[in-house]
Amino acid sequence: MSGFCCSRYPTCSSAEALTSCTQSGGRWNADNSQAAQAQLEEMNLTTISIAGLGKLGACMAGAAASRGFRVIGIDLSPAVLECANAGVAPVTEPGLSDLYRLHADQISATADYESAVRQSDITFVYVNTPSLPSGAFSSRNVIAAAKSIGRALAQKDDYHLVVLVSTVIPGTTQTIFKDALERSSGKQCSRDFGLCFNPEFIALGTTIHNMLSPDFVVLGESDERAGDLLDEFYGAFCLNGPPIVRVSLAEAELVKVGINSYLTLKISFANLIAEMCEAIPGARTDRVTRTIGLDSRIGGKFLTGGLPYGGPCFPRDNGALAFLARSLDVDDAILNATDDFNRQIIDRTLARIRPLLAPGSAVGILGLAYKPGTDVITESPALDLAMALSREGYPIVAHDPLAMKNAARVLPQGTVFALSPRAVIEKTDVVVIANPCDEFRSLVREDFEDKTSPVTVLDCWRLLEQELADSEQVRYIALGTADGFDVQSMARKLTSIANETLQGGTTDAHLDRVA
Ligand SMILES: NC(=O)c1ccc[n+]([C@@H]2O[C@H](COP(=O)([O-])OP(=O)(O)OC[C@H]3O[C@@H](n4cnc5c(N)ncnc54)[C@H](O)[C@@H]3O)[C@@H](O)[C@H]2O)c1
Repeated sequence: MSGFCCSRYPTCSSAEALTSCTQSGGRWNADNSQAAQAQLEEMNLTTISIAGLGKLGACMAGAAASRGFRVIGIDLSPAVLECANAGVAPVTEPGLSDLYRLHADQISATADYESAVRQSDITFVYVNTPSLPSGAFSSRNVIAAAKSIGRALAQKDDYHLVVLVSTVIPGTTQTIFKDALERSSGKQCSRDFGLCFNPEFIALGTTIHNMLSPDFVVLGESDERAGDLLDEFYGAFCLNGPPIVRVSLAEAELVKVGINSYLTLKISFANLIAEMCEAIPGARTDRVTRTIGLDSRIGGKFLTGGLPYGGPCFPRDNGALAFLARSLDVDDAILNATDDFNRQIIDRTLARIRPLLAPGSAVGILGLAYKPGTDVITESPALDLAMALSREGYPIVAHDPLAMKNAARVLPQGTVFALSPRAVIEKTDVVVIANPCDEFRSLVREDFEDKTSPVTVLDCWRLLEQELADSEQVRYIALGTADGFDVQSMARKLTSIANETLQGGTTDAHLDRVA
């Protein structure tokens, strides 16, 4: 098995071209559609089907259509099918609406696996795999999809490739997923059909770009023929000719949860440094972590102190790796420590917010999604802060550029959703910047100083340090610094810690012996 980077297919080499392909959705296709169609036909790989048109599958459908493929989506939700068939993106993701609109004639959707599998060469499975109390991912939906695909394969004579993308516990694809396909089709994997596990490494908010221009592609394969076909697909699909790594099914599954779990460790380490900087007068967490990140063995990405990690992947992928470790009799302590450390950050942040608040005073929360660029609120630290403060009786005034509709479903009645960050500032005395959104980064001193009463800003991401640190009207507190703490008692503590280190080392007696 060896990976290759395919150069047979048109790629967008410049950043500008790349942006036009992904963000405006389809200039590449408009300019190159004939060449693309010809190449796909030459490959005999023109149509793919995608089971599960959710946050990931819907993006894959749009991205594949932009690369000239015909896409048949399969979903159980009538609302999702209606959207996809009307040329409307079923989920919110930057750039996706344009792709569905521009490529409406290439995307269709159905609940009928049989017709979708019959008409396509590859079926990708992107159905959801919710977490179980044990930390494992439920495989119920992927097995249901496998059975439906298997029944369709039973009716199809041609070779077909099944690609599982949903995140599963390592070992699932080559055992129960393959068994379900074989039993329901009456066919044999690696002889009558191929099977791959092909994880996605995307970040919501940049999903389409990440899919079309990945750092690398991981193909777990049941056999060489299956891997060759998926390798060929990615040669045509990717814009950037990424390295394609071909491994076994279980290895690819482990890479998927391993990467996310490692990132939780890195984020938590940055949060640990931030907490320490809060106890060391004059230390600024960003100066420390940026410098640590200059070491090429470490790198600076995901090394910024702030609120805990959240979202639909990181917490649960870490929990799933811990489940796997326990199941394999491997020590899961490091994974649990990351999770425990992450969970206490909200309490620690609340402890910093409470002393800033008068009883019943309204709190402004800027940011509600679990990160910028998305409307997703799953395990959102910003939302956790808002919920906790609301439960404690503080009225909440919040703004988020994308997630207010989703947040309104879970935040208590009486929460005020403001149309702009400035409206939040006007209505509250304490403002928490909970998300590092560009919209908040671009706030200026006047946005706060124009307010007639004084305002306190707790900036969890230090977005406005330059703008507000020396304002006389704004009390500015940056998380990850000793701002707002009793610096003198900290200095005394540091001195006493340093004094403890005076013991040991090279003593006079030792020097005498050496002489
Ligand atoms: N969202 C992410 O950031 C992300 C990143 C990497 C991997 N993943 C993984 O990808 C998978 C999908 O995630 P998502 O966020 O897109 O999920 P989602 O919940 O947004 O969408 C899942 C879709 O699958 C459909 N579905 C469920 N069972 C089905 C079935 N039997 N047949 C057809 N359709 C079915 C649902 O109706 C829904 O539209 C999960 O395993 C997830 O862990 C997600």
